[in-house]
Amino acid sequence: MKLLVINGPNINMLGLREPAIYGHENYETLQKLVRETCQAEGIEVELFQSNHEGVIVDRIQAAYGCVDGIVINPAAYTHTSIAILDALKAVALPAVEVHISDVKAREAFRQISYAGMACIKTYMGLGLEGYRQAILYLKEYLSK
Ligand code: DQA
Repeated sequence: MKLLVINGPNINMLGLREPAIYGHENYETLQKLVRETCQAEGIEVELFQSNHEGVIVDRIQAAYGCVDGIVINPAAYTHTSIAILDALKAVALPAVEVHISDVKAREAFRQISYAGMACIKTYMGLGLEGYRQAILYLKEYLSK
């Protein structure tokens, strides 16, 4: 089983970025958590982060036929990007959406998730633990 974990804009700034909202752990720690979770579960994983919408679309398209599932935190593009939604729909791979913060309890402009419309499950407000939950959920889903 192979998973692709995609993170969108400013996730590389974790730790520095609004720690009251996103916590003190940095992107290195997030990558370590993902790699260790996947190793423990016998899953092959690739991590990808970009601040650019089209680059994320390209990466989703390139995943077709190469991975079994996608974990995605599109960050701010969650709330704006129909292109990312369409890319997820195009490849039709099972995808799980993750948000570090509880977006439902935040600003009105964060209340819509386009990417979420192509995802089988969403984890939000769990901090980095959400990525672990998403990986475990996808493993269970793909094993059925
Ligand atoms: C986020 C929530 C988004 O609204 C925000 O733009 C982000 C991070 C989260 O992980 O909580 O960049 O996706």
